Amino acid sequence: MIACPTEGESCVPKLTVEGFGTVDVPEGKRLVLAIEQDARVDVLHACGGNARCTTCRVEFIAGEPPRMTEAERQVLAAKNVAGARLSCQIVCDHDMTVRAISRLEGSGRPDPGPTPAPEITPSPVWSTVP
Ligand code: FES
Repeated sequence: MIACPTEGESCVPKLTVEGFGTVDVPEGKRLVLAIEQDARVDVLHACGGNARCTTCRVEFIAGEPPRMTEAERQVLAAKNVAGARLSCQIVCDHDMTVRAISRLEGSGRPDPGPTPAPEITPSPVWSTVP
């Protein structure tokens, strides 16, 4: 994982979405929004980024964050999702490479869902990835 530089320097994490390319992302942006708005990939977010639907899930190829919100941990366990993370529960604070495995294209849905808020919702309680 490539961390951001030392204090006082700007940090521009790079997000790579497999098959779509690499973009610069404002530090701290929610991954789901970076995938949609910066990488221009039609990721789903059916619950509006509230850790309820799991449609925003991605597979990490590199740079998987070592921490996880309690909301993410609970919904992944409840829906028996393994090997994927919820992009609505992750902020871009370092370089990441992901595979977009849940997209509007081919989903049969009319739209990706309500646009998630700029900050993680619900208010995050952090724990380490199990
Ligand atoms: S869990 Fe619904 S958008 Fe992330």
